[in-house]
Amino acid sequence: MATDAQITIACDVKDLALADQGKRRMEWAFQSMPVLQTIRKQFIKTQPLAGIRIAACLHVTTETANLMVTLRDGGANAVLCASNPLSTQDDVAAALVRDFGIPVYAIKGENNDQYYSHISATADHKPQITMDDGADLVHHLHTKRKDLLEGVVGGTEETTTGVIRLRAMAKEGVLRYPIVAVNDALTKHLFDNRYGTGQSTLDGIIRATNMLLAGMTVVVAGYGWCGRGVASRARGMGASVIVTEIDPTKALEAVMDGFRVMTMNEAAAVGDLFVTLTGNKHARIRGGVRPPRRPPHLCAG
Ligand SMILES: NC(=O)c1ccc[n+]([C@@H]2O[C@H](COP(=O)([O-])OP(=O)(O)OC[C@H]3O[C@@H](n4cnc5c(N)ncnc54)[C@H](O)[C@@H]3O)[C@@H](O)[C@H]2O)c1
Repeated sequence: MATDAQITIACDVKDLALADQGKRRMEWAFQSMPVLQTIRKQFIKTQPLAGIRIAACLHVTTETANLMVTLRDGGANAVLCASNPLSTQDDVAAALVRDFGIPVYAIKGENNDQYYSHISATADHKPQITMDDGADLVHHLHTKRKDLLEGVVGGTEETTTGVIRLRAMAKEGVLRYPIVAVNDALTKHLFDNRYGTGQSTLDGIIRATNMLLAGMTVVVAGYGWCGRGVASRARGMGASVIVTEIDPTKALEAVMDGFRVMTMNEAAAVGDLFVTLTGNKHARIRGGVRPPRRPPHLCAG
């Protein structure tokens, strides 16, 4: 619980004193969110979510923060926790609590116990709608808080891995409420997975390691939406890119896009940096396919 004497909102954030910076960053991001701006204006007038309790387990970043404020402006009683312990922007979490009155449970670098206790605290708000990025909140409700399932009318799921988990639950007949697969929207996987994750994955690696990508051999495991984005951006920064892929058609697509494609065993011997974007376990062991080689052609100019 944050200890600012002025704050009585339930929360667990790093430091409410960071809120000024978080609010400025939210405002900056909002300038690049024209669709959300339009929705927020409509929501303020029409209050479509009046009184609805929404629990969100999403990346606690400026963009999500603006989404949460929009839900609140539409009348929702919204609460937020992190879907990833590493992506939380502590200043933004503080601003949501202090300046927008939205309960947040998220601290960058939180350990496993904290992570799950934050999901549990979010579930305690007895949501009628859930918003997930990876299906951890849905999983929590279906395993630890079955008593709350009756009150949930629906939810959303943002990412590929979450959709895979939920489809498996639906197939087993255990998923207890309908969930919109946001990831299936063309604009979601085109903008977020390919271009968003394509850029932010490399941004994170560069910030963490201070590596110069030019001249490096970067191995991208998985040539799906995110893999295509990372591969093309790594190439744009001067890296020599190798792709590994288990789907022969996508492996061929990577070849046609100009990448070297080989098995992970082969790539392991020559790669400098490895990025897995498979949404799958065992990217190392299930090594990928090797496309057939064309005979060489010699052209004299
Ligand atoms: N952190 C974020 O902001 C963020 C955003 C979007 C997606 N994601 C996550 O990124 C991952 C990839 O998402 P996507 O939308 O690109 O999925 P996708 O299904 O489009 O692509 C995954 C690709 O990996 C390939 N693959 C699977 N197992 C493999 C293996 N062992 N070796 C080589 N290739 C393999 C598949 O054939 C597929 O082409 C998912 O876990 C998703 O949830 C994260």
